[in-house]
Amino acid sequence: MASIYEEIVASLDELTGGPHEGLRAVHARGSVCKGTFRASPEAAGLSRAAHLAGDEVPVTARLSNGSGNPHLPDGDRLDGRGLAVKWHLGGDESTDSVTVSIPLFFVNTPEGFLEFTRARVPDPETGMPNPEKLGEYLGNHPETGAALPAILPALGPPVSYATLAYNSLHAFALVDADGERRWARFTWEPEAGVERLPEDEIESAADDYLQTELADRIAAGPVRFAYVATLAGEGDTLEDPTLPWPEDRERVELGTLELTELLPAERAGDVYVFDPTNLVDGIELSDDKILNARTHAYSVSIDRRLAAG
Ligand code: HEM
Repeated sequence: MASIYEEIVASLDELTGGPHEGLRAVHARGSVCKGTFRASPEAAGLSRAAHLAGDEVPVTARLSNGSGNPHLPDGDRLDGRGLAVKWHLGGDESTDSVTVSIPLFFVNTPEGFLEFTRARVPDPETGMPNPEKLGEYLGNHPETGAALPAILPALGPPVSYATLAYNSLHAFALVDADGERRWARFTWEPEAGVERLPEDEIESAADDYLQTELADRIAAGPVRFAYVATLAGEGDTLEDPTLPWPEDRERVELGTLELTELLPAERAGDVYVFDPTNLVDGIELSDDKILNARTHAYSVSIDRRLAAG
């Protein structure tokens, strides 16, 4: 019998006309860069993690569209975008952050993810999702309906991958040198500011404008993001990525990501792998069911990518 993770990847294939050989089951199209990260002096006070100590750390990052359909234009109005970062800590050691441009997630369990993906698969006759199936899903999952008003406005195409903020959505514990834990959600804030493509430029934008724009931008100078931790307050959920935290929570800038060079396009079989559960001492997972499911679903897609090589 297929595992739920295999079922999830199969449902993503159905949604996006896949499987698309050698590509990720979601976030199929993207650009890989290299650069550095330097932590702020405040970061080491919150966590003893090696990448937050303050030395310059080499990174690989991938900016991507959310869809598993590699033919969807970059300007799609209903796609989220992603930023995955890998800090190279020497030897085989690394740690990852894998974030998206929406402020909340639309489901809070892997079962919910599977049901929602299946409910969105287009009806072969109309080419559109079946409104009855979607309605039934939303009736059974009020958490999705509650999160959508925050998510939908964040989906418009950006001017650039460099003009979006990207969120961890999940909470992670920052553990300091004395073993003190502070729970946080993370955001990559763009130095260039958040900027969407004007409505009258969306239709005429080139299919791959986000990839070419990023190449031009990096050729002209570094693309920077600030890494910001929002610290949890009393009663904030540590497990449910569909729920917001209050706006007034303390925010601490942990450091700056600087992307300086575009790497050649990935080919089938390339093994850039980013996993939000790849952590180091000083950062810990929460019990968020989505966070803990991700590594298993990613493995199904990664194994497939490796097999295609
Ligand atoms: C149960 C929920 C989720 C499932 C089943 C899922 C599934 C997947 C899969 C199968 C991949 C492709 C992995 C690969 O081939 O390397 C992927 C990539 C990705 N996911 Fe998720 N995901 C989930 C939740 C999330 C969340 C909550 C975020 C952000 C907070 C996220 C952000 C991303 C990004 C940015 C990538 C692309 C990483 C890269 O560039 O290599 N996903 N996801």
